[in-house]
This record gives sequence, C-alpha cells and structure tokens, in this order.
Amino acid sequence: MGLSVKSQSGVKNPSKYLGNELEYVKKVLASESWSATGGSWNNALERKFADLFGVKYAVALNSGTSTLHAALEAAGVGPGDEVISPALTVIMDSTATIHANAVPVYADIDPETWTMDPADAAKKITKKTKAIIPVSIYGLPCDMDPIMEIAERHGLAVIEDNAQCMLSKYKGRLAGTIGHMASYSFENTKHISCGEGGMIITNDEQYAEAVRKLGGHGFKNLMAEEGRIRLNQDLFQNPNYKRHDVLGWNYRLSEFNAAIAFAQLERVDELVSLRVKSAELFIDVMAGCDFLIPQKCPEGYTNSYYTLGAIYAGREKIGVSWEDFRKEYIKNGGDGVYGAWSVPYLEPVIETMAFAKRCPWVYSSVDYKKGLCKTAEAVQPKLMQFKTNYRNLELAKAKAEILGETIRKLDKRRHS
Ligand SMILES: Cc1ncc(COP(=O)(O)O)c(C=O)c1O
Repeated sequence: MGLSVKSQSGVKNPSKYLGNELEYVKKVLASESWSATGGSWNNALERKFADLFGVKYAVALNSGTSTLHAALEAAGVGPGDEVISPALTVIMDSTATIHANAVPVYADIDPETWTMDPADAAKKITKKTKAIIPVSIYGLPCDMDPIMEIAERHGLAVIEDNAQCMLSKYKGRLAGTIGHMASYSFENTKHISCGEGGMIITNDEQYAEAVRKLGGHGFKNLMAEEGRIRLNQDLFQNPNYKRHDVLGWNYRLSEFNAAIAFAQLERVDELVSLRVKSAELFIDVMAGCDFLIPQKCPEGYTNSYYTLGAIYAGREKIGVSWEDFRKEYIKNGGDGVYGAWSVPYLEPVIETMAFAKRCPWVYSSVDYKKGLCKTAEAVQPKLMQFKTNYRNLELAKAKAEILGETIRKLDKRRHS
C-alpha cells in the first residue's frame, strides 16, 4: 500500500444522513409546529433518549453548553459556589460554571486515561464546593465510584459531561446513569448530531423539571416530562394567567433539530460502532510504537471514541516534532490531526479574569496560573486527536494504514 491518497480514490465517506432525517424534517415542515413549545419531536426524542439509557427523564436543549449551565443552576449552584471540573477539557465546563456566577476549580487528570483524578478532586473540596463535573474525555468514562463517594460525603451534585461519550460503560453501567445528571451534545461532530443540540438525563424529577424550566423561559407549567406549554388552552389564553415563576433562558431545541437527532438516534448503535471500529484500526497500527501511546482504557471500561487520543512522544524518541509528524501524516494522505485544547485556566478568557466584573466579590481571591494542574499541563501539548468520525470502515482502514506507514518511515530516522 502506497502513501498516496490516490490509492484511496473512490473511497468516500457516505452521507451523514443515511436514515430518516430528511423524511422527518419534511414532517416538521408540514406540521407548521416548529418550536419545542408546541411540537412533538422534542418529546419523542426525549423519550427515546431516556429509554436508551434506562432513566426516567431526558430534557432536550439547544446545546451541550446550555445543558451544563441549566444543570448547574438546577443543582442550586449560584454566586460564590465552587464547581470542580478537570483540567483537560473544553472551555464550556468553565464558562457554564461562570455563567452560574460560580467559581471553576480545576482537578488534575490521570496521566494515562486523562480523565479527572478523583484523589485530586477530593483535595480541591472546600466549604464552598457545590458540584463536580466529571468529563468523559474522548469517550472514556471517569472513575465514577470514588467521585460519587466523595460527592456523597460532601453533599455535592455530580453532573457527568458526556458530550463526547455515547453508550460507553463503566464497570458494567452505562456512563450517564451514575451521576445525578448527565449532559450530552448533538453538535456537528458528536456521535449523534443535529447541527446544534443537547440533552440532560436524570432519574430525579426535580432536577429534570428545573432544567426544563431554566431552559424554557421559566414557564411555570413546564414539567419534568413535558416541554409543551399550551396544552391547556383555556388557562393559557386567559388574561389573568401568570406564566413565569422561575428566571430562565431560551435554551429550547427547535423541532427541526429534534427530528434530525431522533433519526440519528435510530442508528445510534451503528454510529457508535463505526467510531469504535475506526479507533481500533488506528490503535492496531500504534501497537509496538513507543512514540504514539493511545488513551488507556482500564479493565471494566469501554470507550466510545468520539476521537482517538494518543500521546505523541516523537520529539524525545525519534527527534521529530509534533508539528512535523502531523505534517508528514497529512502529506502522506492522512486526515488532519488536532491538538488538545489548552488547559482551560490558561485560555485568555479565564486567565485574564475579565469575567470577574460580572460578580467581583465572588472572584476577588481567585487566581489561575500555570502549575495549577501539572499532569494536565504536561499531557496536553503532547496529545494528538485522530479522527474516528468515519462512516466507511474501508476509508478508516486506508487512513490507519497511512498512519502506520508514516510511523515506520519516521521511525527509521532513529536508526539511520
Ligand atoms: C466535553 C464537552 N463538553 C461540552 C461541550 C459543549 O457542547 P456544545 O458544543 O453542544 O455546546 C463539548 C462540545 O464541544 C464537549 O466536547
């Protein structure tokens, strides 16, 4: 097999919407009921999602960030409270926390799984801690038993951020069913996608109702399992009717997005399996390579591989920089390799503390600086994220082979 992309010509990713997406979108159009307040696709999507996880409630919102914000507020997180999230994750766990006027506190990560280190999370607990957001990074669940034990001991809410994790398992249990709430994203790159969207799942009726109301303008007739607001026309049309009893936002998911997400959910097993099988092809070609070490998946866990993360140690081992390895792989026909996001507290939005003016008394003693979470800071610059979002295993195989050849070619430098 040559390194040229030409050898794969004709092998293409099939369309992203191979199922009922188009048919369902047409149905929404024809219904002329395009908002979650009146349509039924949100409700259908929520029921299907809840059933998939075997939980009582699912509440659809318009992103995996609005879900985090609403979940934090539903858990009672407010000004001055502290929320612990890991130091290796996207910015949204921090920004959702700040939007609740709370303080992001960072727990370091495990050096091999890159998920939150429960022992470090325990060290970060203070009297102000109100919630923990374990993030299933790249699709790998966190070590949830000690996290739940810490949370129970201190009376904290646990919100699993599973934006990157679909149907992964932790010790036989589905990730998302262990914390008090779990948050999902249907943004364009996720396992289930409708452009933008999100979901909270929970077994707690109060949390579900609060999330729905916070995301739905605080309409008082919203319930844990019902997002439509005009079900009782006599009440709703009456001028004396008071509608709102909670401060809310409009985080509702449109019916178009709900219909697309519903169609995607019908194919969830296939969509997850394609990512897992793609990741396995890449892991296979990394076997025996001492400068690309894939994310560890501990015994008893499964990983749904939103993306395949690997630590690149090529600079030390073969004298090839991160950038040059990436360039070579792409030149040989490989797909773009992403680096991992900066640790959140070194992103300008957090590091500069410009947000503190929203609530100065809350942030007066907060100080984010380099060195806060040493393992995350050491791992982050070395990470390479390989694409798993193939809809055609033949194509994934071709790209994995290109990676294998790139590894072999560059490895020769060590010996020459
Ligand atoms: C771990 C994690 N949390 C939260 C989010 C936010 O989701 P969304 O983009 O739907 O707001 C994402 C998505 O990028 C994510 O990867």
